Amino acid sequence: MKKLSSKELRKEYLDFFKQRGHKEIPSASLIPDNDPTVLFTTAGMHPLVPYLLGESHPLGKRLTNCQKCVRTGDIDKVGDSSHCTFFEMLGNWSLGDYFKEESISYSFEFLTKVLEIPVEKLAITCFEGDENAPKDEISYNAWLKKGIKKENIYFLSKEHNWWGPAGNAGPCGPDTEIFIIADKEPCSKECSPACDCGRFLEIWNNVFMEYDQSSDGSLKPLKQKNVDTGMGLERTVAVLNGYDTVYQIDVFKKAKEILDAKEKEGEKQKRIILDHMRTAVFLLGDIKGVTPSNVDQGYVLRRLIRRAVRFARLIELDSEVLLEICQAFIDEYGEVYEDISQNREKILSELGMEILRFNKTIEQGLKEFEKLLKYIKDNRMSGKAAFRLYDTFGFPIEMTLELAKDHGVSVDIEGFERAFEEHQRKSKIGSEQKFKGGLAENTERTARLHTATHLLLCALKKVLNDQNIHQKGSNITAERLRFDFNFPRALTEQEKNMVEDYINGIIKEGVDVTQEEMSLKEAMDAGAEGVFGDRYQDKVKVYSIGDYSKEICGGPHIKNTSELGTFKIIKEQSSSSGIRRIRAILE
Ligand code: SER
Repeated sequence: MKKLSSKELRKEYLDFFKQRGHKEIPSASLIPDNDPTVLFTTAGMHPLVPYLLGESHPLGKRLTNCQKCVRTGDIDKVGDSSHCTFFEMLGNWSLGDYFKEESISYSFEFLTKVLEIPVEKLAITCFEGDENAPKDEISYNAWLKKGIKKENIYFLSKEHNWWGPAGNAGPCGPDTEIFIIADKEPCSKECSPACDCGRFLEIWNNVFMEYDQSSDGSLKPLKQKNVDTGMGLERTVAVLNGYDTVYQIDVFKKAKEILDAKEKEGEKQKRIILDHMRTAVFLLGDIKGVTPSNVDQGYVLRRLIRRAVRFARLIELDSEVLLEICQAFIDEYGEVYEDISQNREKILSELGMEILRFNKTIEQGLKEFEKLLKYIKDNRMSGKAAFRLYDTFGFPIEMTLELAKDHGVSVDIEGFERAFEEHQRKSKIGSEQKFKGGLAENTERTARLHTATHLLLCALKKVLNDQNIHQKGSNITAERLRFDFNFPRALTEQEKNMVEDYINGIIKEGVDVTQEEMSLKEAMDAGAEGVFGDRYQDKVKVYSIGDYSKEICGGPHIKNTSELGTFKIIKEQSSSSGIRRIRAILE
């Protein structure tokens, strides 16, 4: 096997697919644009949903990239040898171009010829079929033809060999997954890539996206048959170099040395700290800049930082070390991801502030805990009291448990969990409402609101007479649009009315919405508004609404403004310093 570094693997992968007609697209932001169905970009396919559904991509039908991803579903597994909350995904896509056989051929060639992985080290899984979709004999035969032995190809159920949709609706399909077989005996006669024994390590997933799943779970064929593949960069580098864990690869080296120099023990805690800090660096340094808060992405970021502080305390490390680790990650990634180096100061100051806040929370929590101790009966703390510490003071349950142990007190953990679940249930109802709709649903309603967002930007520029107003964030559900823009003060009632009137005037006029493809330079020369994430692409889509609006955008949009109904602002408020937020609907 070729012992490649992360940088080398990124390059080899992208070069390989570029040589085979794929165009490289930049990594999109970790915060999805206009898609409230998920909090983070979880896979390279995610920003490509409109194109998988049939929109034409300005760079054509073959794409490749290295995408920053965050997944928090497996957070409890972080600390083992292979799970991370942040990772880089190498991917190649066919948007209605090649399908199963060619995709498998590319993967096989890259793995065996470029990475020089011996054929006998590869194991494959294919979809076994169910009542909705057939057994994937085509992939099975394609792998056999390449020389993979029958006994190394496994048919597995939908639970293992089906991917997507990324949110609650959208493109999905059967997949064929590629595993490296470790130098380990099978754990049993039934040992297969479906088990967790560590003999099989998944490195690449080729998804054959031919279905569109609605939010009610039903499947219908997509307009086109797509290929969506994802290779885990960290895992693959680990395998190529013969490492047992992803934490041994080059990107972690500097940060790991800092931790090891301070503390010899606590391998698992150190891995958790490394993982969480790396994710924090990418979330804080993202072009869409998340900061710690109590909602959505900011809340996840807060939890990750606080969890890292907690694990650092457990192995008696000062939280200062977390800042050093972040600096090491900024140095490591700054060259590959410009946002990270440009936001160095912001990353470090936000992180420093959050650590301070959490240390205060801990102090206050400790005081509350001491107070509670006085009321405890039979050396047992009620679940409600533990939940109050968590909910009101932000004091983590793990710390309550540790302190309780130190004081010889037990905690009604079931009672805590009941209170916690009740709280979750209530907020889930809230977030289900909030996460309805989105890019993947691609409905007429979201397309209308999307077009209205473009009109809103041009109306704000016009009414407030300020060409320096730009989009700073957008989020669309089936019910409403939410639009953030830079402006130093609240809008007056009169200004809001004027914005509405201006937009409703364009709607009445029945203006055509047209789309052209051009180079980024041409688009900028034509005065088009830019959209995050498309920055380095050499060809972009530009949507125009008559002479009123011109924006670089992925779409989809409606064809004529007369389809929009009546535009109405529901709320105008501050979003953060210098940024205003408008919520609006179409009636
Ligand atoms: N979307 C698939 C995955 O995340 C392949 O990229 O595994």
